[in-house]
Amino acid sequence: MAKKIGRNDPCWCGSGKKYKVCHEEFDRKIETIKNQGHIVPTRNIIKNAEQIQKIRESAKVNIECLDVVADKICIGMSTEDINDIINEVCKKYGAIPAPLNYQGFPKSVCTSINDAVCHGIPSKDEILADGDIINVDCSTILDGYFSDSSRMFMLGNVSEENKKLVEVVRESCYKGLEEVKPWGFLGDMGQAVHDHVTAHGYSVVREIGGHGVGIEFHEDPWVSYCTKRGTDMLMVPGMIFTIEPMVNIGGPEVFVDADNDWTVYTEDGSMSAQWELQVLVTEDGHEIISY
Ligand code: MF3
Ligand code: CO
Repeated sequence: MAKKIGRNDPCWCGSGKKYKVCHEEFDRKIETIKNQGHIVPTRNIIKNAEQIQKIRESAKVNIECLDVVADKICIGMSTEDINDIINEVCKKYGAIPAPLNYQGFPKSVCTSINDAVCHGIPSKDEILADGDIINVDCSTILDGYFSDSSRMFMLGNVSEENKKLVEVVRESCYKGLEEVKPWGFLGDMGQAVHDHVTAHGYSVVREIGGHGVGIEFHEDPWVSYCTKRGTDMLMVPGMIFTIEPMVNIGGPEVFVDADNDWTVYTEDGSMSAQWELQVLVTEDGHEIISY
């Protein structure tokens, strides 16, 4: 239990304003919703204006990484070449690729092709081929602040079936995004994503989800896309998290590659796609921080 702050004390958020004109009413509102039985955010995951600005700066680098990949990606390139692009852009800004050495991850970005769901490890032996669909998941640390987003890329003659998958997973993120607003619930977002994906006959991976991000790489809350409207954590201004559903054409079951202990594949070998937005809850809705 946190020590009670006096109304004239500086606010816990670090704004420098008095508590009574800053987050006092906000805290009271959260307390009421908590007492109704809902999960509410703790203070440490609510970012202040300065932190948000620093996270936006980090995201600028992250967005440029993916923009450069979008520009250069082609058939015949290796996933190691994508890793090189990320390193180069990060270096230009004095940024650090967040995946590198994260829990032993050996590379600077995740590259997941076709039935790879996520956490693919770039390699010079893995060459992009005609018809491939690939997720490039990029995360950047700039001046200690974290950004994280991913996009799909399609190489050459991609089947209509796979194009549709990629389009639907992207759309599902934006359907989810529309639900991101203060005093709503993460489940509003989760259900919107899930409804859109399942309406097209696809399945959503259950075991791996999104996360809070900004001060750390992975913060609370853990974000599911298999939740129901009106459930899961309350969304309040200053929260930053990812919308990053992993969607399979076949069943939702996945397994981890025993050779590298990282790369996740679909159990049935069906194609998988993912899109990821990093989102801020604002006073009146949301802002995309990274894409
Ligand atoms: N963006 C991915 C995530 O949010 C990146 C994982 S980095 C890895 O989990 F090192 F864990 F692969
Ligand atoms: Co992420």
